Amino acid sequence: MKIGSIELASPFVVAPMAGMTDTAFRRLVKRKGGCGLVVSEMVSSEGLVRGIDRTLEYAEYTEEERPVSIQIFGGDPSKMAAAAQVVEGMGADIVDVNMGCPVHKIAKHSAGCSLMKEPKHAASVIEAMAKAVRIPVTVKMRAGWNDAQRNAPELARRVQDAGAAAVTIHGRTAEQSYTGLADWDLVARVAAELSIPVLGSGDCIEPEQVTDRLKSVSGVLVGRGVLRNPWILAQAADLAAGRAPRTVTMRERGEFLLEYIDLLLNERVNEAEGFRHSAPVSSPVAPARGREKWVINKLRALCSWYTKGLDGGSHLRVRVNSAQSIPELREIIDEFFSLIPANAANL
Ligand SMILES: Cc1cc2nc3c(=O)[nH]c(=O)nc-3n(C[C@H](O)[C@H](O)[C@H](O)COP(=O)(O)O)c2cc1C
Repeated sequence: MKIGSIELASPFVVAPMAGMTDTAFRRLVKRKGGCGLVVSEMVSSEGLVRGIDRTLEYAEYTEEERPVSIQIFGGDPSKMAAAAQVVEGMGADIVDVNMGCPVHKIAKHSAGCSLMKEPKHAASVIEAMAKAVRIPVTVKMRAGWNDAQRNAPELARRVQDAGAAAVTIHGRTAEQSYTGLADWDLVARVAAELSIPVLGSGDCIEPEQVTDRLKSVSGVLVGRGVLRNPWILAQAADLAAGRAPRTVTMRERGEFLLEYIDLLLNERVNEAEGFRHSAPVSSPVAPARGREKWVINKLRALCSWYTKGLDGGSHLRVRVNSAQSIPELREIIDEFFSLIPANAANL
């Protein structure tokens, strides 16, 4: 599958998830295989243009993740065009526009999903961006704002005409937030009508669902399913290749969490030059004092999803939530996933 000039080795994509899909997590998922594209957490166009530190961190990516798409939000065409130029300057492969976020803080500023209420304006944002950069500009939208305005088909056509290179549709309305089910019929209808690639998003928890959805779209984004099972894209790729999906042992699941801790602890420490790409004003390195707390909070956030569907998962979640230090966190993970005996044998 190609988005503009960017060739994706697989049609399976890690969906953007604010607070979750940081560069360390994306790298780990990518290493498992089957992943054709990763998308950053959404980052403010205003922040990118003005160089606000806290925001810029969300746009960071590493070479290992390519191809990588950076998702930006905002509603002002000229600022969005300028932000797209910053993204292009960072060497990202794709710039994606968030037209799906229902959160009031974002949507009240004519950004996120409220752009779906103003299709003409939304298209002018894409037009300004597509004129300003050479990298593909893509859009991620919902089915519409609410049930009365399920206008993804109209908006998708408009942004295609304005220069978008691909469109992703999460088949829920903003009003639905995450309730109900994603409307994949609507997604399939848009895919059949557009000439650019249309990707779908929503409710793929099992690898079979991912491959099944691929029948009607060019690509499938997996969000919460990746947080529960980072191997889901690799398993979907197995199925797509006619193989049985790989099995994942408890040991591997535990090791994933330990690797995530290690990557987070070592972010920006002794990295080779050119490995990490940051926006022009680089964010300050987290002070040593704050890093441990930051890592613990990151693990708590991931484990709220990761533990779903695991035997005894709720018990693990409670223990991770009460952990006060990295050694304690590691011990809880070692114990739950039975990593201790093998570790001891290695000594
Ligand atoms: C915690 C969380 C954060 C999200 N953040 C973003 C975001 O920053 N940008 C975006 O376009 N979608 C975001 N989404 C929506 C997902 O990309 C995806 O479209 C949605 O969760 C449906 O897919 P799923 O059922 O596979 O999770 C987020 C979803 C979750 C659960």
